Amino acid sequence: MDTLNERIAQLEEIVAHYESLGLNLSLTRGLPSPEQLRLSAPLLTALPVSELISEDNLDVRNYGGLSGIKEARELFGSLLHTTLEETFVGGNSSLQLMYAALSHHLFTAKNPWNEQGPVKFLCPSPGYDRHWAMLDYLGIEMIPVPLTGHGPDMDVVEKLVADDPAIKGMFVVPKYNNPTGESVSDAVVDRLAQMPTAAADFLLFWDNAYTVHHLTDEKTAIKDILQACKAAGNPNRVIHFVSSSKMTFPGAGVAAMGAATEKIAEMTHYFSKQIISFDKINQKRHVMFLKDDETIAAHMAEHAAILAPKFELIQTTFTHYFQDDLQSYVKWTAPKGGYFVHLTTQPGCATAIVEQMHELGVALTPANAAYPYGDNPLDNSIRLAPTYISLKDLQLALTILCSIIERVTLEKQTSQ
Ligand SMILES: Cc1ncc(COP(=O)(O)O)c(C=O)c1O
Repeated sequence: MDTLNERIAQLEEIVAHYESLGLNLSLTRGLPSPEQLRLSAPLLTALPVSELISEDNLDVRNYGGLSGIKEARELFGSLLHTTLEETFVGGNSSLQLMYAALSHHLFTAKNPWNEQGPVKFLCPSPGYDRHWAMLDYLGIEMIPVPLTGHGPDMDVVEKLVADDPAIKGMFVVPKYNNPTGESVSDAVVDRLAQMPTAAADFLLFWDNAYTVHHLTDEKTAIKDILQACKAAGNPNRVIHFVSSSKMTFPGAGVAAMGAATEKIAEMTHYFSKQIISFDKINQKRHVMFLKDDETIAAHMAEHAAILAPKFELIQTTFTHYFQDDLQSYVKWTAPKGGYFVHLTTQPGCATAIVEQMHELGVALTPANAAYPYGDNPLDNSIRLAPTYISLKDLQLALTILCSIIERVTLEKQTSQ
């Protein structure tokens, strides 16, 4: 006990030093850094006046082409593995497309979910807090489902969807999940496509936000969900979303969705009641800039060159600090792509760690935000978003985080 108290006293001094620095650092959200944004500067001048007519003969400056210009549907279709008729290219946000798909199925689809009684969704957790915010806002009950390292725990999923017709859907971030970094296995894809569901209108929201966002040469490939659903006789079970937010500019990218032709036609009709057409100038210049799969891969490799050192720094800092007696204090993910590292602290520690970091001027995403309603009885989940911060500031933030994790864990131990 004495050595524990001595160590806590040492940590108090270390923390007092950090406090005196008056820091203002943030690891809260997954934003590309200014250096990454510069990679896409040529996008701003990629569209000459001679290129204002699309391949399907639309003037990109004018109204028309609600489901996107042909060349944009082809470009995003190659990311989604969909045909032209199976591809819809919208505005600058895939989240907006997800919200639209949710609200359509809730309120305006044939036999809308909302008229069938309470609506529930499965929420693989830890997951993306904005998915949960969206579901909550629309009054959908969220049921957390554990993750396995290869996607959602399918034994749990299959049982829940087979028994409860109120479970209408599920969000999945199939590749480099936000925040755990894991990707779904082929077996998970097949089981999701094939599983019997009590709800005939069950819908997968396949949010492939990090589909080309690799951090290493080991580029994870996932099985095609739409093909798997078609093969299982459930062609309308999935909508697949992607966007260029983290390829070009999050505030001015292009978002797209892929689904069976019938589902895309349904969504196009839904959008026709609220918008004449999306920003085709931006679609066209994205096609001019991103061109094809090879150009996208080369561009994403430049992103990776900026990002990988930040993710490596997290690994080396944590591996170095949390060894021997401290090994059990925290577990961290080592993602091969995406934008996040997830920390699993000892139970009951995450909130205190995030609060103490905040007091020292280092902002983190609220503890347990990756769980529906922010409700994680274990209080052990912290997301790190290291992309925006500079490498130098990240080093400082991580050094402080290590001390705080040790301090909170020790305090917890001595209080028990
Ligand atoms: C899993 C996931 N989906 C969607 C988004 C946002 O996508 P968009 O900018 O296309 O709305 C993010 C951003 O962090 C994300 O992590």
